[in-house]
Amino acid sequence: MNIALIGSNGMLASMLKQKIPASYRVHEFDLPDFDITNSEQVNTVIGALHPDIIINCAAFTKVDLCETKQEAAAMVNGVGPGLLANAAHQVGAVLVHISTDFVFAGDKKSPYSEEDPAAPLSIYGCSKLKGEEAIINSPLEHYYIIRTSWLYGPGGPNFVETIARLACEREDLGIVADQRGTPTYTGDLAEAIMRLFPRLSPLVTDLPLPPYGLYHYSNQGECTWHEFACEIVDQLQKKGCAVKAKRIIPIATEDYPVPARRPQYSVLSKKKYMEATGAEVPEWKESLQTYFDNRA
Ligand SMILES: NC(=O)c1ccc[n+]([C@@H]2O[C@H](COP(=O)([O-])OP(=O)(O)OC[C@H]3O[C@@H](n4cnc5c(N)ncnc54)[C@H](OP(=O)(O)O)[C@@H]3O)[C@@H](O)[C@H]2O)c1
Repeated sequence: MNIALIGSNGMLASMLKQKIPASYRVHEFDLPDFDITNSEQVNTVIGALHPDIIINCAAFTKVDLCETKQEAAAMVNGVGPGLLANAAHQVGAVLVHISTDFVFAGDKKSPYSEEDPAAPLSIYGCSKLKGEEAIINSPLEHYYIIRTSWLYGPGGPNFVETIARLACEREDLGIVADQRGTPTYTGDLAEAIMRLFPRLSPLVTDLPLPPYGLYHYSNQGECTWHEFACEIVDQLQKKGCAVKAKRIIPIATEDYPVPARRPQYSVLSKKKYMEATGAEVPEWKESLQTYFDNRA
């Protein structure tokens, strides 16, 4: 079985490379040699490889930079996924595409389901929603779009590593306490993706292939960025790390101005994913511990 892993140098893709069993051939594609916004290149490469599965981890993920680089965000996050969907259709491949909780406005008070209307607040969120729509409106029927949130793992700049660094440098940290969501460990998301393909997953289930379509996946539970930071520092201390931070101060969104607006609440409901795969979803604090246990 051939898998085309797109955006293969990124944080989630690095974890997928570790988790996909060696018996499957993973073909890696990323900038500068492969650009998902170049339709000719996408068609040529996918046409020649004839993969069984295309996993698209490529994206313009710098949320604040998207506000000023709108054209680039629109192309990479909005247009590229549609080009991959068309190429997948041509060769009969299944496309797995990753999207985001930032497609929601964040005005709910209970977890967002796949049926809830999207209403992004940022250029990043808008461009990612366009990418979902490009796949849904393409001729391809065999796709999984997985929205996830607050992703962290090895090999990428992420909130956990930022807090871990700052906690060793400063006594006071001011962290936003009025945005709620759920952290997601790339190790869990990578396994969740593999569960969609029972032959790919060592965690074999007797269930049939989950129906194609849109799914939400994050870790279980919810917290604010402030609560997340407190847990990170707590776990680092328990591991014996030399932590300098003494006070983690809750602050309001307006006290930490950034170019892109974030949803105040973006917890995702995993009900559909759990019913389709029969999988349990780990709690975010447990997964953070797994991350720290495996961290170099
Ligand atoms: N990180 C999060 O908190 C988060 C939350 C929710 C959803 N997501 C979604 O999860 C997915 C994976 O995120 P991640 O954090 O693993 O991303 P990442 O680390 O930023 O990796 C993305 C990869 O895609 C590459 N890329 C960018 N433009 C490309 C293009 N035109 N053609 C080919 N490759 C291109 C990037 O290369 P360069 O580095 O050279 O640009 C990078 O290697 C993305 O779809 C993201 O939107 C992420």
